[in-house]
Amino acid sequence: MSESVEISLTAVSAVGATVRPRWYFYPGVGRRDMPPLDLGLGLGTSGLDDPTTCTETVVTALEAGYRHVDTAQMYDNEAAVGDGIAAAGVDRDEVVVATKVHPENLAPDDVRETAHASLDRLGLDRVDLLYVHWPMGAYEPAATLPVFDELRAEGVTDHVAVSNFTPDLLREARAILDSPIAAHQVECHPRFKQSTLRELAAEFDHHLVGYSPLARGDLLDDPTLSAIADRTDTTTAVVALAWALERGVVPIPKATGDHVTENLAALDVTLSETELETIDAMTDGDRQIDPDDAAWN
Ligand SMILES: NC(=O)c1ccc[n+]([C@@H]2O[C@H](COP(=O)([O-])OP(=O)(O)OC[C@H]3O[C@@H](n4cnc5c(N)ncnc54)[C@H](OP(=O)(O)O)[C@@H]3O)[C@@H](O)[C@H]2O)c1
Repeated sequence: MSESVEISLTAVSAVGATVRPRWYFYPGVGRRDMPPLDLGLGLGTSGLDDPTTCTETVVTALEAGYRHVDTAQMYDNEAAVGDGIAAAGVDRDEVVVATKVHPENLAPDDVRETAHASLDRLGLDRVDLLYVHWPMGAYEPAATLPVFDELRAEGVTDHVAVSNFTPDLLREARAILDSPIAAHQVECHPRFKQSTLRELAAEFDHHLVGYSPLARGDLLDDPTLSAIADRTDTTTAVVALAWALERGVVPIPKATGDHVTENLAALDVTLSETELETIDAMTDGDRQIDPDDAAWN
């Protein structure tokens, strides 16, 4: 995404609170009413069920350099994630905080009520990204999506995003929403490369956020990735994440302990064009996450 210049509407109000700019100027693009979205490698938090571990992991990640944290109502850890954001020595405004509305909460009143409940649990007055987690359950595009527009207009979220959509559902959502779709989050890794959705992300100008970027650990003994890791003196996990970054995908690995900082090394690894093409040529396998009522089934 292009860099933007915050026009000088940023100010300090009479009560001392920072007033966020109401519009932004993007060189070459012009005036837009949204803050820029600088989306780098993120920390996934699904499975961080123990609150203490979750909070400590978020603190470790932010202090190591992560600036994007991904949670969801479904993960039941928004409070622990929020505690980590508060405890880390990093300015909240430097962090992209993403949460997702549970598919059972996608009726209009429930979207509104539970988005505010998410903010309360996170201890924040806004999130950067509010996703439709799955287009199923109570998802009714014409009823659900306008509430996401309203929540953006009200400042509950800076950006509207979707997850687990098909190309047709993406097109439908784009037609209904006033807001641009800022990100589409789907499973994406070297064994499930999502070429169609990556092309659509480029065409529609949204971020493709890749979940399960390590195929939930299944990639870690892959011989092709391991050979590249040996040659480049890094680990298989880092090679998978570096491939995603080089191909314009924003990976959000879930990690604990030393894996948190290990994965950041993906930002410093440069894979050669031959190595990237070798990974591109890997055969796609099955999805890791494939519920029967997913839109693609
Ligand atoms: N939108 C959706 O529907 C959706 C669905 C699934 C996931 N997600 C998001 O995507 C995030 C990531 O996906 P995921 O959790 O399914 O899978 P993942 O990130 O592909 O894999 C996580 C697994 O990899 C291990 N791991 C991480 N870094 C490692 C390293 N450097 N070396 C060895 N093992 C490593 C982790 O173990 P340790 O904990 O031991 O490090 C964990 O077992 C989730 O946490 C969630 O935020 C979204």
